[in-house]
Amino acid sequence: MIPEERAHLVDLVAGRVPKKRLKHMLRVETLAVRLARFWGVSEEKASVASLLHDIVRDEPESTLLELVKDTDDPLAREMAETSAPVVLHAPVGALIARRDFGVDDPEILRAIALHTTGASHMDRLAMIVFLADYCESGRHFAGVEEVRSLLFSSLETAMLRALAQTLSYLRQHSRPMDRHTVDAAAAFACLAAEDSQRLRQA
Ligand SMILES: [Fe+2]
Ligand SMILES: [Fe+2]
Repeated sequence: MIPEERAHLVDLVAGRVPKKRLKHMLRVETLAVRLARFWGVSEEKASVASLLHDIVRDEPESTLLELVKDTDDPLAREMAETSAPVVLHAPVGALIARRDFGVDDPEILRAIALHTTGASHMDRLAMIVFLADYCESGRHFAGVEEVRSLLFSSLETAMLRALAQTLSYLRQHSRPMDRHTVDAAAAFACLAAEDSQRLRQA
């Protein structure tokens, strides 16, 4: 993406989200692009996914449900039925990225759709956007440094720690756990173990 295209996208996003949300998305972009460069993923895709991932985060639940009503996207439909309302902004964000911003790259759309819950099958771009959202420089909470320290050694292990922290937070606060997050934590326990074997053999 040439700088003018990116600037145009930032302008469009700025017209649709509160300032605070835009700043968050720009910080996610900064980290996601660094991670993409390091892990050999398209920096352009990381940039676009980051700049759009929370495009409907500030919309009321009724609007999100309205947007999901007529979609044939299976993930959005399923999350609308089974997930906590706050989770819905991720798959609906992907729908809006496609409808209003003309994004048709399936990797970008999936990275946006999975940025809140994670899932058992995530490619590197989806992991990078999830982790950049979790760890961007404005995040300050117990455990964030542990995940940050893993970002440039094992994406799978960083995912496992982030998912485990999320589930333990939800448990402690008696909040519902999303099925995708539970499935993702189980899948990444295996993937992280495989990756640590790779690191030992390297
Ligand atoms: Fe989000
Ligand atoms: Fe976010």
